[in-house]
Amino acid sequence: MKYNSQKVAYWFFALSMLLLSLQIVYGFIMAFAHMGYDGLHPFIAFNTARAVHTNLLVVWILSGFMGAAYYIIPEEAEHELVNVKLAYIQLISLALVGVVAIIGFHFNYWEGRKFLEIPRPLDYLVVANVLTFLGLILTTLYKGKKRTTTALVLSMGLLFAALLYLPGMIWFDNQTMDSFFRWWVVHLWVEGVWELIMGGILAFLLIKITGVDREVIEKWLYVIVGLTFISGILGTGHHYYYIGVGKTWLVIGGIFSALEPLAFLAMALFAVSMYRKGEKKHPNKIALSWTLGTAITSFVGAGLLGLAHTLPQVNMYTHGTLVTAMHGHLAFWGAYGMIVFAIISYTLPNLTGRKLFDSMTGIVAFWLANIGMLGMTVAFGVAGVAQVYLERKMGMDFGDVQKEIQVHFFVLVVCATMFATGIGMYIYEFIRYGTPSKEALLTKD
Ligand code: HEM
Ligand code: HEM
Ligand SMILES: [Fe+2]
Repeated sequence: MKYNSQKVAYWFFALSMLLLSLQIVYGFIMAFAHMGYDGLHPFIAFNTARAVHTNLLVVWILSGFMGAAYYIIPEEAEHELVNVKLAYIQLISLALVGVVAIIGFHFNYWEGRKFLEIPRPLDYLVVANVLTFLGLILTTLYKGKKRTTTALVLSMGLLFAALLYLPGMIWFDNQTMDSFFRWWVVHLWVEGVWELIMGGILAFLLIKITGVDREVIEKWLYVIVGLTFISGILGTGHHYYYIGVGKTWLVIGGIFSALEPLAFLAMALFAVSMYRKGEKKHPNKIALSWTLGTAITSFVGAGLLGLAHTLPQVNMYTHGTLVTAMHGHLAFWGAYGMIVFAIISYTLPNLTGRKLFDSMTGIVAFWLANIGMLGMTVAFGVAGVAQVYLERKMGMDFGDVQKEIQVHFFVLVVCATMFATGIGMYIYEFIRYGTPSKEALLTKD
């Protein structure tokens, strides 16, 4: 660690791990409900658990991204963060807004729009929070000595992500209009600007870990940004097939979204080829595993499993079924969960000055979490395909179908237990590292 202010990152990562743990608890509540064990229903109904699960997901990922930016930007710009106190205030307010929203969901204080459930008054607090964060990041970048491509792509991703939150705050009385703009947030985040954030963090990690020249790595970033925008913007159309807008979206959405996997393929090829080209001398093999892992898993989860249901002919049957959950899990985990784990694994030894990366626990955590998540994806997929045939093809009632597919959730719970054990071991390692220390400033990264 070169700059004292980079320490802020640690606390964002800690918040991220805390919220992930809670997200997993709500995942289990839903998985058991799917098996028919819904004893908690009077206190935590399925829709509440679902909103809590997905919103916690978004907040732990955002907290991870913010931590990543607070670590990467000072280092890339060669300048201390301009105001550390404000960064801590931003951290605490992020946690507070998150907690109030989550508690509110349990009392039906919510908007009921998937992923954008946070009620309007809290939205304004989110905006203030993100503006503070961006102000700190962009001023540091502006005042710094250097503006690298990596730092610019990361900051651009963060800035666009903030701007794209706004279309979700426009009020519509019309369901189709509301849905149309909701996708500007949800789709253009995960299949647009978050890919820039991921690309920026990935480039930073590859520069540090593989030792390949920055120029080579950053050239790839342009390719990734280009492919993301060419395919992702009009790819939004794959959510417009049957929501009540014009038929042209069937063609536009189908064609452009089918091209989206290319950006993820480029990221996977990029990471693997940089690794092969590199010196393979960096001792932090766990960070390397998460870095290569995120590039490859995101291609499978987002690219391939996204492609599996993106054509209008398929989506007509699979829309909103467990096929979506199959893709949602591996895509979110592979692209955004794992990149957060990668940056944490790389930065923890540098932030704390303790080089504990030679540990079996860390390696076992990596494999358990990933094999567990892959198993969960398969379980969701099998349940989803069965659901599509029974409900959409044969016309069986939704509730009857849910009973038929209960058995697949037993497998899901087994795999989820594996996943949760891996995450538990990772968090154990996180705690073992301890908090950031002064000595860390003197040790070599
Ligand atoms: C990392 C990137 C991605 C993430 C995190 C992600 C995640 C998700 C999530 C959570 C949903 C459910 C959204 C909702 O119903 O509100 C969804 C839907 C969808 N995704 Fe992705 N996705 C990614 C990339 C892709 C790509 C590249 C494709 C296409 C090639 C794709 C195709 C789809 C389709 C067609 C749907 C709609 C499913 C339905 O109709 O129910 N996704 N995605
Ligand atoms: C122990 C771990 C987990 C379990 C048991 C679990 C289980 C579930 C269940 C049962 C649902 C609801 C599906 C439905 O609507 O019927 C769900 C939704 C969802 N979960 Fe998880 N989950 C876990 C971890 C995760 C993680 C780590 C992520 C992301 C990195 C994630 C992302 C999502 C998303 C995006 C949705 C919404 C999917 C959609 O839109 O269809 N989950 N989860
Ligand atoms: Fe999409």
